[in-house]
Amino acid sequence: MPWTNGKMQMAIEKSSRFEFDLLANKYDSWYESTKGRMYDRLEKKAIGRHLPPSTKGKKLLEVGCGTGHWSQFFSKYGFEVTGVDVSERMIDIAKSKNISNASFQVADGHSLPFADDTFNVTAAITTLEFVHDAKTVVREMVRCTDKREGLLIIGVLNTLARFNRKRQQDSESIYAKAQLFSPSGLKQFLEPVGKLVIATVGFVPKQNLFLPLAPVIDTLGRILHIPYGVFITAKVKL
Ligand SMILES: C[S@@+](CC[C@H](N)C(=O)[O-])C[C@H]1O[C@@H](n2cnc3c(N)ncnc32)[C@H](O)[C@@H]1O
Repeated sequence: MPWTNGKMQMAIEKSSRFEFDLLANKYDSWYESTKGRMYDRLEKKAIGRHLPPSTKGKKLLEVGCGTGHWSQFFSKYGFEVTGVDVSERMIDIAKSKNISNASFQVADGHSLPFADDTFNVTAAITTLEFVHDAKTVVREMVRCTDKREGLLIIGVLNTLARFNRKRQQDSESIYAKAQLFSPSGLKQFLEPVGKLVIATVGFVPKQNLFLPLAPVIDTLGRILHIPYGVFITAKVKL
């Protein structure tokens, strides 16, 4: 990394709404909690529905890959994964997981270090809420994606979900500074980019006792297009 620490710090502050280096070490603990595991299961199912059936030889770029949690999912799915993140500490953790068919590097989503049309799929999962300028990041994602058959895969937190609104009220949390989307806001934002499929998922009961019912409630919420699920997923065919 050719930057000094001071310059690196300034670059992170300019590109991200939150300095993820500070919580990189404990970031994965959410995915290990009882509720976190259930949300993760439902979110992966929903993103999986957007992915192509054949991934052989396909290259996927993940912008804001964090600790590589989703990179692992994409790698298991059969993609050759390139993960980028502006947080050096998050990238160190992703690298330490030795995920097969995945490589990681520090890079800013506002200015991706890849040639036009390099990837078949470009994904950003709970990243657009944390960048300074989501429009520029999406424009960069499109530039790096193959225009003939390429896909963008997006996952964002829903501002209409009560669970997320509560998270945002905690001024110390990463969510306080995040710019969440509503289902209609995301639709409006992504419709000009290509052919869009959007879904709202992540309907999980508040009490852990009822957690086993979550997959059924989630299916109903998605099918009935109830706009209050925690997570919004989108597929854009370029
Ligand atoms: C909430 S975390 C999500 C991490 C991962 N996608 C996941 O879902 O586990 C948001 C990530 O976006 C990264 N990020 C924020 N701004 C960025 C930017 N401009 N370019 C690249 N990554 C960025 C953060 O460093 C952080 O790792």
